[in-house]
Amino acid sequence: MLLKLSCQEKMLKHIFRKHVKPKKQHEIYLLSKTVAELLESSKCSDIIDFGSGQGHLARSLTLGYNCPVITLEQNKNFIKKAEEFDDDACKTLHKANRQADVVGQVTARHVQYNVSTDVAADIFIDTIDKKVQSHVEPTYLLTGLHACGDLSATMIRLYKESPRIAALVSVACCYMKLSTEPESTYIGYPMSLYVKGLDNHKIPYKSRESACHALEDYRCRLKGAGPQLRMHCYRAALGTILRKLHPDMVRLPVQTIKKAFNLSFVEYVALAFKKLKLSAPNEVDVQEAESLLSQWVHVVIYFCLCLMVAPTVESIILLDRMIYLKEHGLNCEIKSLFEPKLSPRCFAIIASKDSQ
Ligand SMILES: C[S@@+](CC[C@H](N)C(=O)[O-])C[C@H]1O[C@@H](n2cnc3c(N)ncnc32)[C@H](O)[C@@H]1O
Repeated sequence: MLLKLSCQEKMLKHIFRKHVKPKKQHEIYLLSKTVAELLESSKCSDIIDFGSGQGHLARSLTLGYNCPVITLEQNKNFIKKAEEFDDDACKTLHKANRQADVVGQVTARHVQYNVSTDVAADIFIDTIDKKVQSHVEPTYLLTGLHACGDLSATMIRLYKESPRIAALVSVACCYMKLSTEPESTYIGYPMSLYVKGLDNHKIPYKSRESACHALEDYRCRLKGAGPQLRMHCYRAALGTILRKLHPDMVRLPVQTIKKAFNLSFVEYVALAFKKLKLSAPNEVDVQEAESLLSQWVHVVIYFCLCLMVAPTVESIILLDRMIYLKEHGLNCEIKSLFEPKLSPRCFAIIASKDSQ
């Protein structure tokens, strides 16, 4: 039975917002509703949340909808945080319950687990069964909010392979991290025989990476046409310096540098090199790269062209997964769950064996 704890709505809203950025609040609000409804209609007993991070989705599903959830996360620090946040949420609820009607408060079971791309479905289910320890044989609904790269592809495969997994809500991201032919024995893209059989089905790393950028957000930046557009060229010029000094660097491992628009290019370069634990470049190299900044318009045009094909790239990857399921007699739908301006990776693959 779907139990929305409406009597404590206000308190729960507060609990779910704590420690969560507005973008994620939006995603969690909509995804947990979809998952809880599918859990009920598919008659699954338990939810498995793949790549659960700090457990925000699981907290909403357990305390907000009374759903049994087990989370799988490889990062032990995230698990620790998830447990801390759960305790905090329960304490707040407990205080509120002195005045309000008391409703069950069971938090998720957080498990540190690395879902490997080649895990056999029966071994995977066996491991989860042992954690759940139910008297009746559980049936599972798999979900994952921005389960990155191969993790979302593995969820799809496990759903296809195990009769004990009856439903799926997968929101993917980081397509550039997908294993692709012929780089590895495991292949995250393409999954379907149909796409594998197409000439030119390969999607290069750069295109898959572009598919993770936010077209809608960049359109607003273009309209604003402020100094941030020029900043865009910083990274390209930084790349020139890095490649000159370290020709063996194929991809730039530079994380986003926050508030780069407040920095001069020299400061930006110094910070980037520090982050990479590299010794600072000399003045001549920086001055040389600085002259490239005058060409910032070309960088903006290039980026716009990449973004224009990005939705096609994402569609191909998601449709490949849909066709893969179809090839194994399983239907699914691809639904835009979130507001793309707020949350660009907004598509969910939703499936239930009950409705086949
Ligand atoms: C983009 S984050 C999303 C976190 C969380 N779902 C959220 O939305 O806040 C992806 C998470 O998946 C975890 N992850 C990636 N690959 C994994 C794997 N093979 N097994 C378990 N966790 C994994 C990462 O550690 C990370 O916490």
